Amino acid sequence: KQTGLTSLDPGFVNTASTRSAITYIDGENGILRYRGYPIEELAKQSTYLEVAWLLIYGELPSESELLEFDEKIRRHTLLHEDLKRFFTALPHNAHPMSVLSSAVSALSTYYEDSLSPHDPEQVEISTIRLLAKLPVIAAYAHKKALGQAFLYPDNSLSFVDNFLRLNFGNMAEPYEVNPVLSKALDRLLILHEDHEQNASTSTVRLVGSTEANIFSSISAGINALYGPLHGGANEAVLKMLAQIRDSGEGVGKFVERVKKKEEGVRLMGFGHRVYKSYDPRAKLVKESADEVLDALGVSDELLDLARELEQIALADDYFIERKLYPNVDFYTGVIYKAMGFPPRMFTVLFAIGRLPGWIAHWREMNSDPATKIGRPQQLYVGPPERHLNR
Ligand code: CMC
Repeated sequence: KQTGLTSLDPGFVNTASTRSAITYIDGENGILRYRGYPIEELAKQSTYLEVAWLLIYGELPSESELLEFDEKIRRHTLLHEDLKRFFTALPHNAHPMSVLSSAVSALSTYYEDSLSPHDPEQVEISTIRLLAKLPVIAAYAHKKALGQAFLYPDNSLSFVDNFLRLNFGNMAEPYEVNPVLSKALDRLLILHEDHEQNASTSTVRLVGSTEANIFSSISAGINALYGPLHGGANEAVLKMLAQIRDSGEGVGKFVERVKKKEEGVRLMGFGHRVYKSYDPRAKLVKESADEVLDALGVSDELLDLARELEQIALADDYFIERKLYPNVDFYTGVIYKAMGFPPRMFTVLFAIGRLPGWIAHWREMNSDPATKIGRPQQLYVGPPERHLNR
């Protein structure tokens, strides 16, 4: 008989792993706040970098603090030339999430003199390097898959504009940023910046609790995000919508298969461990989907299918009883697709969005004297003591 254990909580449905002052969620009422500020206000009135500062340092930056932060990040966008060769060693069709996590892990090899979680200056420079370089790594993973040349960052551009140019520009022509895309992408990134103790953030904390360096911890978080039940859902939603369209079975029939719980069939982009009402991020994403597609003058039959799917599901007892609503991933893919990103880049965009949250949690954990190495318990259900009897 095991002693000392009082509870079993698969999936941590009921167990708090930490105290945190970063993000507040009320899942019953669909409320999300970063450091006390409602997500709706931040999404409409702030920028990715300003929110990153808020999450990491706890308060909104002054104008000069934000300017300095932005400039520092611009100054660190270049990747070591040797790291660029890393991309050519991978298959051209490598999934960009694997490329991203591997390259972030590899970053630690270039900065071995600044990996201490206990030295504030080292933590600071690593924070800046991560924020500056992750988008560049992401864009190179995209370019590599296309067989196109990597562009050097243009540090005269804003964070998001630079990222768009690195993905969609080429060596032969100047790139003109579409301000509608730039604003919409910035808003989507804000919506993803933090979500308290989700699987990837908990992973970052668990790995970080061993005093592993920040690059290794964030690389682990990227791998956790990759799964289709977490960040990978945005790619899976588009796949699901395309399958519904191509099979011709119709939305109603697909929903019936979901309800019958056919093997491997879930309504991707629906449901959430914490939200038992409409995900507040999904509301804002849905608004953006209309704005972006209208501004680009494109229509997308997958967006129409998504709307139909939502309408049918929200009126169906199966989904009502289980409190399943669209989550942040339901409409993002349609917008990313309209922007020109291939589905395999969707979760990468989630990772860029989530990076400030991961960093904020890693730093919060390391500055909390109550932090201990994470070490879950188990209930042993294997054989009792037995002997070889040889
Ligand atoms: N489609 C159909 N049924 C579902 C779905 C879904 N998307 N999600 C949950 N259910 C059902 C599930 O079958 C179960 O039914 P029953 O009580 O009859 O067994 C009930 O609802 C409770 O589901 P659960 O799997 O116990 O819930 P969970 O809290 O463990 O899982 C989830 C949460 C997000 C993994 C799940 O809702 C899901 O798989 N959703 C689809 C994937 C997805 O969109 N993930 C993105 C999450 S939001 C962004 C992020 O943070 O990554």
